[in-house]
Amino acid sequence: GLNIEFFPGERSIMSISKRKKDHLNIALNRDVEFRNKTTGFENYDFLHCAAPELNIKDADTSVQFLNKKLSMPFMVSGMTGGCKEAVSINRSIAQACAEESVAMGVGSERQLFENSDFIESYTIVRKYAPKIPVIGNIGGVQLAEADNFDKISRLIDVIEADAMAVHLNPLQELLQPGGDVNFSDILKAVETLSKSAGVPVIIKEIGCGISEEIAGKFIDAGAEYIDVAGAGGTSWAAIESYRTKNSIFADSFRDWGISTAVSIEMVKRIKGAGIIASGGIRSGIDMAKALALGAQMCGAALPALKAVSSGGNEKLIGMIGLWRMQLKTVLFLTGSKKIEHLQREGVCYKIRN
Ligand code: FNR
Repeated sequence: GLNIEFFPGERSIMSISKRKKDHLNIALNRDVEFRNKTTGFENYDFLHCAAPELNIKDADTSVQFLNKKLSMPFMVSGMTGGCKEAVSINRSIAQACAEESVAMGVGSERQLFENSDFIESYTIVRKYAPKIPVIGNIGGVQLAEADNFDKISRLIDVIEADAMAVHLNPLQELLQPGGDVNFSDILKAVETLSKSAGVPVIIKEIGCGISEEIAGKFIDAGAEYIDVAGAGGTSWAAIESYRTKNSIFADSFRDWGISTAVSIEMVKRIKGAGIIASGGIRSGIDMAKALALGAQMCGAALPALKAVSSGGNEKLIGMIGLWRMQLKTVLFLTGSKKIEHLQREGVCYKIRN
């Protein structure tokens, strides 16, 4: 691939499971967020309602997602699987999401193409979260390369997925030692997947956002949701800068991407696109802004990983509970009884560009 020509000597003989472990360690122990670019949510404010004409107990954060009821429109975004460490991490995330009635994604299931050594890191999710929406995950490049659909359908079956996410990560693949940089034929592969998967397909970035044009192409190809995973939170160029010998090069792309708020506004112009907002969502107030801008769902990855790693499922339950209280409070303070009322004209407005 291109990156090997770029960075001779970095052809990876590393197994996928070792790579997954590295990513977890770096995400937990180094500064991996954007440096000079933000989500853009700070450019918006809510119109405070001094007389909500509403009892806060009637402000309802619940929604339906993938035919299941959630206590709020939130999912822990896909992060891990395919290494030993992922078993306890995914168990804790599943326990917390089940307890709080929110959705959960698993990390890339690519490791299952190699062998079944770490299959428990995926199957444990359904064991602890039998009822919530669980979302499978595979890279667009791996999807395009998979020679038969049975390989992909196994990824759906193994976790009884309610939807399948396909991640697009061109920057990360380019920077990652041994990454795959052939991004051809992904659109066609998504078209085939959308017809055969039997569950909705979600197209997601991993922190660089998705433009209107790309969202439109994938919705036309049959995807139902776009998870913008925009800039402003976890930066994969930052993560890879700690793994590659070419850290100066990787770090120079640390702030690359479309800010999450901007990406939501772009994708909103595509008719029929369900929008999942993620990338730097760090509170229930950020969630409320994303929802007001047009998202149906929100997701966060890094804060959930940090919570379970420092305090297990209890700490993640605490975080989710706090975010729900914040979201409920925004509903109350804007006189909104339901989540969809946040999208009323003028409730959330731009204070600067
Ligand atoms: C991720 N993310 C990710 N995304 C994906 O589609 N497949 C994956 O395997 C992974 N793996 C992964 C590992 C770790 C340790 C992190 C922190 C993240 C990306 C994730 O789903 C999300 O899109 C971004 O992290 C942006 O959200 P936050 O972290 O800013 O909330």
